Amino acid sequence: MTNMNSSAAGRRERILRAAVRQGLVEPDRAVLAAFVDLDGVAASVAALHAAFPDTVSVLHTFAAKANCLVPVLEELRTLGMGCEVASAGELAQALAAGFAPEQIVFDSPAKTRSELTQALELGVAVNADNFQELTRIDEILALRPSASRIGVRLNPQVGGGEIAEMSTATATSKFGIALEDDGSRQRLLEAYRARPWLTWVHAHVGSQGCPLELIAEGIAQAVAFADEVNLMLGRRQVTGIDIGGGLPVNFLDDETTPGFDEYVKCLQAHVPALFSGEYRVVTEFGRSLLAKNGFTAACVEYTKTSGGRPIAITHAGAQVAARTVFMPSSWPLRITAHGPDGSLKTGEPVPQDIAGPCCFAGDLLAQARPLPMLASGDIVSLLDTGAYYSSTPFHYNSLPDPAVHGVRIDPQGNIEFLPLRPAETIRHVLARTGG
Ligand SMILES: Cc1ncc(COP(=O)(O)O)c(C=O)c1O
Repeated sequence: MTNMNSSAAGRRERILRAAVRQGLVEPDRAVLAAFVDLDGVAASVAALHAAFPDTVSVLHTFAAKANCLVPVLEELRTLGMGCEVASAGELAQALAAGFAPEQIVFDSPAKTRSELTQALELGVAVNADNFQELTRIDEILALRPSASRIGVRLNPQVGGGEIAEMSTATATSKFGIALEDDGSRQRLLEAYRARPWLTWVHAHVGSQGCPLELIAEGIAQAVAFADEVNLMLGRRQVTGIDIGGGLPVNFLDDETTPGFDEYVKCLQAHVPALFSGEYRVVTEFGRSLLAKNGFTAACVEYTKTSGGRPIAITHAGAQVAARTVFMPSSWPLRITAHGPDGSLKTGEPVPQDIAGPCCFAGDLLAQARPLPMLASGDIVSLLDTGAYYSSTPFHYNSLPDPAVHGVRIDPQGNIEFLPLRPAETIRHVLARTGG
């Protein structure tokens, strides 16, 4: 969970044991819980800040979609981050976490008129997704001026990575204005000429599965377009580039690779102009800041065999790991086996299915995964789930959202848990289902 990979497993085990001792994971009452290592988050943010050279003025924003819990956003704000939001809900969460409007960037391909009005009134930065949205912004600005930084999201159409669903710069992507389509570049240049308030260019090439070189190529296109606007106008109208997020995460072991430093080196090689100091820069990382700083613990309720295959029925399934359950080959998760007290289980690995509680056959976290033989009352940990997992539930079977706990370990080794989100009760479930 921290970047110290040799100690990462030991740290997780200590946290889980302490959580069991404190009743945060226990049969019947707390069968599922998620943990965010706040020391690890601080280390990840520090690594991000250290990676970018001083020659460039950067606002690092955290993509709220990766972990939208308000206390997590608050923590990131105190660590010097801004916040990227992509819906009215995420904007409300960012404001509740105390971000100043100028630290917030609003991206979404479907911003409504009232959402745009709110963002522009507040002074939240806005990246327009398409020409129709630009016309709406014209109409809103005609009524009142805005302090917002406003840009356009380009689709540099540089192609996709390993996961099609995560690739946002393909030829036919739904995001941004396709730069290479017939007449598109010219129309976009004219849009900048007609709107002196269009001072930013935005590109988010893709997320997990996109090679660094592909991301850098897309950002190079964005910077080249900004240069083209400024050359055409004979003045520096475009003053900033928002390079999006997308640094992939290693889900295979505890190495944090690639790191932010490797990504910045790649950008320096492919897009030197980004570091000239000519443009201000915004980043929007999500997964790379949180994923490895979280794990999810679930009690094993029952074990059985079916067709000779051992199966552990746990309390973690699609409701907290939707991507892994529905697209297991794109989103495999590491799983560790623990006894009822949270200590790592030893013993010969036996291929087992790790199943969730949902009522459909595909609700499996892993198939034939070699792990020490699990028994009823044991605990499994799903690793690297700090981003896009328990914070973004799938409400199948009306399962309650689990508690999420923040964790800090002081220099004396004392483990402190902080509530990030309480577990839903059946009363909450009824309330959100109209009952
Ligand atoms: C516009 C935008 N910015 C940032 C991100 C964050 O990406 P990641 O979590 O891969 O860093 C996303 C992810 O979907 C996005 O769509």
